[in-house]
Amino acid sequence: MQILMWVLELFLVLSLHPPILSAETAPPACFEADRVALLGFKARIFKDTTDILSSWIGKDCCGGGWEGVECDPQTGRVIRLILQRPADKDLSILMKGTLSPSLGNLHFLEVMVISGMKRIAGPIPESFSNLTRLTQLILEDNFLQGDIPASLGHLPLLQTLSLSGNHLTGQIPPTLGNLRNLQQLSIARNSLTGPFPNSFKNLINLQSLDLGDNALSGTLPEFLGQFRNLTYLVLSNNQLTGQIPISLCSLIKLAELSLGHNRLVGKIPSQIGNLESLTILSLDSNQFTGQIPESIAQLHNLWNLNLSRNVLLDSLPNTISQGLPSLLSIDLSYNNFNLGTVPQWIRNRELSSVYLAGCKLRGTLPNFTRSDSLSSIDLSDNYFTDGISNFFAKMTSLQQAKISNNQLKSDVSAIRLPDGLSSIDLHSNQLYGPLSSILNNKTSKFLEVIDVSNNQISGSIPELSSNLDLKVLNIASNKITGHIPSSISNLAKLERFDISRNQIEGTIPTNLGLLLKLQWLDLSINILTGKIPDSLLGIEALRHVSFRANRLCGEIPQGRPFNIFPPVTYAHNLCLCGRPLPPCKGKNPEKMMGQ
Ligand SMILES: *[C@@H]1O[C@H](CO)[C@@H](O)[C@H](O)[C@H]1NC(C)=O
Ligand SMILES: *[C@@H]1O[C@H](CO)[C@@H](O)[C@H](O)[C@H]1NC(C)=O
Ligand SMILES: *[C@@H]1O[C@H](CO)[C@@H](O)[C@H](O)[C@H]1NC(C)=O
Ligand SMILES: *[C@@H]1O[C@H](CO)[C@@H](O)[C@H](O)[C@H]1NC(C)=O
Ligand SMILES: *[C@@H]1O[C@H](CO)[C@@H](O)[C@H](O)[C@H]1NC(C)=O
Repeated sequence: MQILMWVLELFLVLSLHPPILSAETAPPACFEADRVALLGFKARIFKDTTDILSSWIGKDCCGGGWEGVECDPQTGRVIRLILQRPADKDLSILMKGTLSPSLGNLHFLEVMVISGMKRIAGPIPESFSNLTRLTQLILEDNFLQGDIPASLGHLPLLQTLSLSGNHLTGQIPPTLGNLRNLQQLSIARNSLTGPFPNSFKNLINLQSLDLGDNALSGTLPEFLGQFRNLTYLVLSNNQLTGQIPISLCSLIKLAELSLGHNRLVGKIPSQIGNLESLTILSLDSNQFTGQIPESIAQLHNLWNLNLSRNVLLDSLPNTISQGLPSLLSIDLSYNNFNLGTVPQWIRNRELSSVYLAGCKLRGTLPNFTRSDSLSSIDLSDNYFTDGISNFFAKMTSLQQAKISNNQLKSDVSAIRLPDGLSSIDLHSNQLYGPLSSILNNKTSKFLEVIDVSNNQISGSIPELSSNLDLKVLNIASNKITGHIPSSISNLAKLERFDISRNQIEGTIPTNLGLLLKLQWLDLSINILTGKIPDSLLGIEALRHVSFRANRLCGEIPQGRPFNIFPPVTYAHNLCLCGRPLPPCKGKNPEKMMGQ
């Protein structure tokens, strides 16, 4: 018995303190100060549905299976901390908490990636300025707040710095201009203000600069033209002013230039054709004037050209018809173009996206020679009158079509929609004929959006089968009659249902309450009767509702959000009552009505 105890004891001692077999072969255990620093991080994360941190247990942060932690095998010091979730839509997978300053004690750290955690809030700790061996600091898609610490400029080896997708405010600290080795700088999708720091002129090794989706102001600095290795420049969705500096046109490695949604003015520089590597040029939603420069035709790698929403003038340069051999997507919408017809070179090209909205196009819809290549088309806000019935005939790849706000006069029964179409917007034309010819059991399962509002379409809403995946059905402002079929509940994915301004009668089917994804419901200005069914209370996603101007009666469903919508939601009906309207007379209005 005693011997057995002794053996057990020895076993325990050995397992807690494994004998050092040889200094060379044994992997060194985690350096204690590093383990403490990591546990300091773990302690400030009070919710972790990624399950990463549950692996951070035991003494050995190097060999002990700590997910995302990597050590130098010689020294046992932590050199990489990589905690990465893809920026997916699954909002339930996250870490909640703050970034512990203790991470600043990982003095040997070379790479820190903490990204996609969605709910790591609070400031970027000043202590990170002690991580002087860092070459990569990536803190994307968390919820970090406050200013960017100026002390991050003390990380001399940094090559990649990304703080994109957080809630950072204030100006970009000029000290970041000290980071001379920086190749990738990305602080997109924050709320930064103020201008480009002048010190950025030092960042000549930059290959990628993304400051898009902030509120940056000031002009585009001339010195950007010195960044000879720049391949990716994204400054879209800011408040930048002034002109495009001509120096930018010397960036011969530049592959993407995105300056959309700013307040840039002046002409597109005639030297733009020098950007020989350019594949994406987005200058949309600025105030660029003048004509498109001829040299643009030299951009032989360009596949995506977006010049929409500027003040550009006719005529398009002749050179384009022979140039731009790689072009796949063109958007010239909403400028000051008066094109009349779709230019022949656009009709004859093999293109996948053609957006020519608001280009003063007239007459018959165009014939595209390579119509099988088109996947997305926008010809809305023009003056087309004819040609809708055959228009889609050979568009076998078409997914999205927008030809709203024209003067198309046609029977909808004559329109053949391509099978793969996911979105069709024909609102504000003069289309007529029965609704059931575009919305029926044979409607493609791929179709998610139908907007035929503001036409002359008649007939009733047909019975619907469950093999439809519609998310948006907008048939408002037509001449639709009949009832809402109870089979409407088959459209289980419906998010937006607008039948307002028609002549639809009958009651609101109880089944409507089965559309649990519904966010927008507009039944206003019809001749609906009866009660608003209480079943609608089950739709938690509802944000906007209108029952205005029908002949509804009885108690409004007494629960959120129905009892807190503004009274106008229910105005001009026969006898609706209950909150937000005055209380119903009598204790049980429903029964009283039935009598
Ligand atoms: C950096 O590290 C030193 C030494 O460990 C420490 O004294 C100092 O407070 C740290 N700096 C920051 C900003 O945490
Ligand atoms: C650009 O890249 C080249 C080759 O990778 C490199 O030699 C050079 O130092 C970089 N920086 C500048 C400013 O050219
Ligand atoms: C052009 O840019 C605008 C604004 O960002 C966008 O809505 C549009 O879809 C783009 N056009 C194409 C063809 O991608
Ligand atoms: C479009 O092409 C078809 C056949 O190629 C032709 O019959 C028709 O007239 C053309 N329409 C227009 C508007 O050019
Ligand atoms: C369409 O679906 C409705 C309801 O499911 C059904 O009554 C009708 O027979 C179907 N029509 C066709 C043509 O399949």
